[in-house]
Amino acid sequence: MLSQQETKREQWGSRIGFILACLGSAVGLGNVWRFSTTAGENGGGAFILVYLLIILFIGIPVVMAEFTIGRKSQSDAVGSFQKLAPGKPWFIAGFLGVAASFIILSFYGVVAGWVMKYFFGYLTGSLVNVPENDFTGYFVSFIGKTAEPIIWQFIFMALTVGIVVVGVKKGIEAANKVLMPLLGVLLIILAIYSLTLGGAKEGLTFLFSPDWSKLADPHLYLAALGQAFFSLSLGMGALITYGSYLSKENKLPTAALSVGALDTLVALTAGILIFPAVFAFGLDPAGGAGLVFMTLPNVFDQMPLGAVAGAAFFFLLFAAALTSAVSLLEVAVAYFMRKFSWGRKQAVLIIGSIIFVLGIPSSLSQGAVPITIMGKDFLTFMDELSGNVFLPLGGLIIALFIGWGWKKTDALRDSDLGDTLIGNIWIWCVRILAPVGILLIFLNKIGIVG
Ligand code: PHE
Repeated sequence: MLSQQETKREQWGSRIGFILACLGSAVGLGNVWRFSTTAGENGGGAFILVYLLIILFIGIPVVMAEFTIGRKSQSDAVGSFQKLAPGKPWFIAGFLGVAASFIILSFYGVVAGWVMKYFFGYLTGSLVNVPENDFTGYFVSFIGKTAEPIIWQFIFMALTVGIVVVGVKKGIEAANKVLMPLLGVLLIILAIYSLTLGGAKEGLTFLFSPDWSKLADPHLYLAALGQAFFSLSLGMGALITYGSYLSKENKLPTAALSVGALDTLVALTAGILIFPAVFAFGLDPAGGAGLVFMTLPNVFDQMPLGAVAGAAFFFLLFAAALTSAVSLLEVAVAYFMRKFSWGRKQAVLIIGSIIFVLGIPSSLSQGAVPITIMGKDFLTFMDELSGNVFLPLGGLIIALFIGWGWKKTDALRDSDLGDTLIGNIWIWCVRILAPVGILLIFLNKIGIVG
């Protein structure tokens, strides 16, 4: 079992608990809601191909980098860099991360609130008896309301706060252990059912047969990069923070690989559930942020015991969102607790309240009040700013930090990879491939190269 660390820092109860918590952080609305929206808007197959390459060569290596930094430093997103490289500017990545945690959780709570609304909609039957099965109308009118979505967002944030107050082991770890496997099983069952609805051929073609001409669009690469980082909870120190609750005896590479592979599998399964249904019910794959909420009710409507399946699905999606939200909040909480010597409860309550208020404009921007920035509604703007800019930028600095700021022998030892082939490939990824890849995608998008 784990030995007591020199500090009184909290620790995971077990190795599998750590992996499940990281998986709980990774698997969330990103895999279902954001993945389907982004894949749909960027043409499907070509996007997915680029996405998979980025996960493999940039995502998983940076996951390894974050775990290594966290476990070595036993500190939070900012403190890690300050402890390992005192007086150097690497800690800027940590500040970007803490900022990203505020931004992401602000709109994440809004969308998770929609998920809760849908869960209760199935429980109470209001989503079962929608007139003329107009689920699009149902969704649009719900998110366009002023107070109701904010109330759901509030409830979701209150639950997140409740779990984070309890602390790392009892709160976060316990919840993940039960709910993640259940979500996986239900997703698979639903995906198989969705394939019988008549849109299977079109849906699978859309997802898996790339339209090569789409590769000419610079935005596709940025969208895939941002989605990979968002989905893996990467680039903002969430995995540094979680890695810091790990003792030295735990091995990192299998954890990084499991998290990367399973997170991707969940996203693809969600795609196989959603896109056949999109085509079967004549919806637009590029339909934007509401795609999941407008598509899935059609699937449940057709299904035997659909109301039960609908309730179960939205409950598990809510649980997945909750475990991700918990990790988002924990990044900021861990930093403020150390920096200002706040107690856990004080930190959680103050930060949770600020983030809730920050989310209100995102909620209102969905129809109640037209809040737009650069032609996008406020929620989409916050989403793209954090996912496509903050996270990849943080990831770039993290990769450079391990690749160039550490001695190669230290990095190989502290990552548990050792001087092996895989270890050397990893070093090469964080030194060259990941930074160059991220930079090229940024420069290409703003039109400087490509
Ligand atoms: N990975 C989470 C999801 O897919 C979101 C998240 C992003 C969580 C960044 C933590 C940090 O829903």
